[in-house]
Amino acid sequence: MSYGFPEGFVWGTATAAHQVEGNNVGSDFWLLEHAEGTLFREPSGDACDHFHRYPQDIALLKQLGFGAYRFSLEWARIEPEEGRFSVAALDHYRRMLASCHEHGVKPCVTFHHFTSPRWFALDGGFEDRANVDRFLRFCERTVRHLGDLIDTAYTINEANLTATLAATGVFPKGGLKSVASFVKHAAERHGSTLERFGPFLLGDPMKLRDTMLEAHVRSRDVIKSGPGSFPVGVTLAMQDYQAVPGGEAQRDRARAESFDPFLEAARKDDFVGVQTYSRNRFDANGPIGPEDGVPVLIMGYELWPEALEHTIRYAASVAQGVPIYVTENGIGTTDDAQRIDYERRALAGMVRAMQDGIDVRGYFYWSLMDNFEWLFGYGPQFGLVAVDRETQRRTPKPSAEWLGAIARANAIDL
Ligand code: BGC
Repeated sequence: MSYGFPEGFVWGTATAAHQVEGNNVGSDFWLLEHAEGTLFREPSGDACDHFHRYPQDIALLKQLGFGAYRFSLEWARIEPEEGRFSVAALDHYRRMLASCHEHGVKPCVTFHHFTSPRWFALDGGFEDRANVDRFLRFCERTVRHLGDLIDTAYTINEANLTATLAATGVFPKGGLKSVASFVKHAAERHGSTLERFGPFLLGDPMKLRDTMLEAHVRSRDVIKSGPGSFPVGVTLAMQDYQAVPGGEAQRDRARAESFDPFLEAARKDDFVGVQTYSRNRFDANGPIGPEDGVPVLIMGYELWPEALEHTIRYAASVAQGVPIYVTENGIGTTDDAQRIDYERRALAGMVRAMQDGIDVRGYFYWSLMDNFEWLFGYGPQFGLVAVDRETQRRTPKPSAEWLGAIARANAIDL
């Protein structure tokens, strides 16, 4: 059976600045990657040198069949010292946006994707609600420079991520910083303290959750009041939370902590971005590990592509009528045939949700190319395109052709 997607359905791929640009030295993550005793497998270094190679990369994604590119703006480059904005950095992103338009690619822009300027994180980061104003100032200045070229904007990538990691037991309740000494080393080496240093991802999960929620709501209004007229929303880390018999209350508590406040807030947004990779199971005592017999990926979670269908359904049930975009979905694997199989199953689930009337408007594969996977370094390979770490040569994988053909046809054989 062939399923034709609605006209105008958006097919894209996604990246984030720190993971692909290279040498993001002004960011908080750069400090953490180079801290004594770091848990980062390796530093990001040159990454994919996308900072210089974006014209070829955008041309490549268009050639493969995709019509949209989701990428992030690097605050640490745009505001390297507090209150000092780099017009050169803003112009760089203007050229990227223009390059998308030249190729007929919709530029879909994330204002915050995990990294912040080091001065911001060392002085509280998003753990301190008073710092929301600093983020708003960045958004205001940036949208003033770029707004007329933007197609779609996301305020914060996975604004609920730390709450999700805490609710599923991946990180301790106090966040990774409560147990990992390298965060303290990084803070003290750069004139801060462990208490004050608030890098996203590693900081106190609940403080980050609350500040991120406020930052999303307020920055949405700031971004919308700038030049240009485009939809604005947030993207959420949504795994498929499942209960084994007796685990329903724990599953619901996890949903209430990590999804619901954001999905409820999204009712006032133009859309909600769903990002899904796997599932988490709960029993009566809380999160439990992978099920026997289900393969576990290099990321430590189960290969479970059906998660996408279930998170779309859950997001739709709480966000109530707000259009949904899948802003990230994909698999980190060295086996590209496994990637195609994962994608086929994930997309089939998305189609089932759409056939039931859920308003899904687009799908972005994570990621365009193999890149810096945070604590895991360059180990997990999420890309449709392989990147040679020495030469920076790009080589599209069979999955790129496979998914690109679906994008071009705007239809899938199921
Ligand atoms: C993030 C990406 C990350 C991807 C794969 C998402 O949580 O937004 O930055 O690379 O998952 O793990």
